[in-house]
Amino acid sequence: MPSPRKTLQDLDLDLLAGTAVALRADFNVPLDGGRVADAARIERTIPTIDLLVESGAKVVVLSHLGRPGGRLRPEFTLRPVADCLGALVEAPAAFLPHVDGAEVRDAVAGMADGSVLVLENTRFLPGETACDPGLAADWASWASHFVLDAFGTAHRAHASTVGLARAVRQKEGEAVAGLLVAEELSALGCVLGKPRRPFAAVVGGAKISGKIDVIEALLARVDVLMVGGAMANTFLLAMGIETGASLVEPDSAEAARRILKAAGPRLVLPVDCVVAPSLTPGVEARSVDRSAVTDQETIGDVGPVTTEVFGRCLADAATVIWNGPMGIFEKSAFANGTRALAISVAEAAEAGATVVIGGGDSVAAVGSAGVANRITHISTGGGAFLDLVAGKTLPALEALSERTPAGNSQGAEV
Ligand code: 3PG
Repeated sequence: MPSPRKTLQDLDLDLLAGTAVALRADFNVPLDGGRVADAARIERTIPTIDLLVESGAKVVVLSHLGRPGGRLRPEFTLRPVADCLGALVEAPAAFLPHVDGAEVRDAVAGMADGSVLVLENTRFLPGETACDPGLAADWASWASHFVLDAFGTAHRAHASTVGLARAVRQKEGEAVAGLLVAEELSALGCVLGKPRRPFAAVVGGAKISGKIDVIEALLARVDVLMVGGAMANTFLLAMGIETGASLVEPDSAEAARRILKAAGPRLVLPVDCVVAPSLTPGVEARSVDRSAVTDQETIGDVGPVTTEVFGRCLADAATVIWNGPMGIFEKSAFANGTRALAISVAEAAEAGATVVIGGGDSVAAVGSAGVANRITHISTGGGAFLDLVAGKTLPALEALSERTPAGNSQGAEV
């Protein structure tokens, strides 16, 4: 049995004064021209940083940004994130262009109490995604305590999540959840235990590979699962429907067939789609029945009939979760499905349903449709959100409550 997970609020905060606290945040944010384009994830970690600063801790922030593949790639530097963070906190905040070794140890030793230091991208090191215990031990050499506030990365068993939690606990430091993680878990409680029924889920995005287990786990929990985006194309392919030049994953067609058979009417797929001869800007798109896609066409969005079908399912639901766009919504010809879904989930919330949304694209869609304030909870997690609501355990959270920190864990492929 795991011991109960501690959060920052359970600690005697006096314990933190003058100590170096490693704070794992998820500052994997969109950048535009070298600047942070959406600071929501940074803003939502500020309460944890402020509390640590007020406690007199030296706050050392670790985060990944993008998928640089274990090597230094300047376009993935965390410097813009550190600049953005510096403008959001009162405390002195600096950026260090190093992520491990003596440079970090020396910089931490020189920090003032109540100050903040952002390290370089953890994924510049191959040991991060490999969950290298040596890398985790290097970080734990200067960290007295560990705070996990990276809810969006809690599904990754990496050196700065699982590894660092274990390494800090091995030297008898505290490893606790931050305020954002605590807030997410409390807000998502409404879909984790006994959700009000009918319970409806909508998933979209490009790929079903890597999400097959999540789809199967979701199907075991929900009353209806609607699938859109290119992910739906692989189901259509598995049904023998022409998908033209659309994005499909033939290697996952067998799994899609198995899911279709097991799910029966609980799985709702697009019945029509928006297609075009190519995805170039200004191209003329048309809505067609899913049986009428030609071998020259590409599916870019769900069609208007599907939008109505999904809307009806959502109107009946008492609990709704949504992750992933219905089409290539950044192109105006293919934006309607995702926009209509944003409005439908907001209407469901207004009618009394509990509606939770996760994933950058879905969150952006409710934002641009002007309905974000109607949603019950907007999660900072994408994959982590989906795994959690599907009933899977999140390794980084598990590592906080393991009884005996020992051994290595499997890293995730990124
Ligand atoms: C996310 O944005 O979902 C998290 O930061 C995790 O990123 P990853 O999928 O690259 O591990």
